[in-house]
Amino acid sequence: MFTVEVFKEKLADLEKEYFDFVVKHLGQWEVWAEASQRVVNREEVKEDEIPEAFHMELKMMRVVLEMQDLGKFDWNDPRLKEIFAEITQMPFYKFFGEMVVKISLRLATIAGVKTFLEIGAGKANLTGIMLRQMSKENKLIPLIATDAQPVILENVGKLKDEYPQANLETVIWNIMEPPSDELLKKVTSPTLLYERYTLNYANFKAMENVARAADILVLGDWFNHTGKLYGYDEVFKNIGANPLFYKDVKPILDDYFPNQYIFDQRVLDAIKLPNITLLIAWK
Ligand SMILES: C[S@@+](CC[C@H](N)C(=O)[O-])C[C@H]1O[C@@H](n2cnc3c(N)ncnc32)[C@H](O)[C@@H]1O
Repeated sequence: MFTVEVFKEKLADLEKEYFDFVVKHLGQWEVWAEASQRVVNREEVKEDEIPEAFHMELKMMRVVLEMQDLGKFDWNDPRLKEIFAEITQMPFYKFFGEMVVKISLRLATIAGVKTFLEIGAGKANLTGIMLRQMSKENKLIPLIATDAQPVILENVGKLKDEYPQANLETVIWNIMEPPSDELLKKVTSPTLLYERYTLNYANFKAMENVARAADILVLGDWFNHTGKLYGYDEVFKNIGANPLFYKDVKPILDDYFPNQYIFDQRVLDAIKLPNITLLIAWK
């Protein structure tokens, strides 16, 4: 069994890299948090009033609010699709994905991980980062990419062509249900499950199901640890992203994954960010 101290020590360089980037990049989050309430109040908020890191969120909020006002939410609205595509190209989004994967690969080496499991793989952006980093390090651990939506088969299919040497499989898994026998047969313990922005779209009760298949978690969801919500939290509920409170998450995590390391604790202390952005937990 690994102690928190061992993981902390082995991840110290990555933690510093994360701290330096996030403090600089998201340090002004409060300016945006306050402005986002004015957006909700339909007051004018100019782009140059808020830090550049949040411009895309402002754009997204405006579109979602406009749809809300018109009484019809449409996932196929081209503006929404364009914004989602632009978000994946933003420096923080890319850096965050790279970091989730770097941490996962480092822990895999330390803990002798035999299977990687990804949940909510969606457009397979994070899956792509994992395959690229594994190929670069010449460390091809079997990877099972899952999502509740069958579209994952198509998206990951493209990656199979790009990385023919990878041991990559896809399984449909709604994490609100226990993993299927098909999935369980494919995983060899120790299994490391990594993810980004999925639990907010499901529910933390999924942890019980996740625990049946995974031994180590690298969670890139944003758990609110202050209890205070902002304008953007309320608006993004409309696109299915529900705030998850750490006070609700913690007891369930304690039951199934009692060893925990809040990877971004120093960031939280330094800039008072209301969300835990990276949490590592293991059995
Ligand atoms: C915001 S996307 C994140 C995509 C990907 N993780 C990334 O970071 O690029 C959320 C994903 O969660 C998936 N999802 C939502 N609810 C789910 C559930 N109950 N079980 C499995 N996947 C789910 C959606 O289908 C979607 O692909």
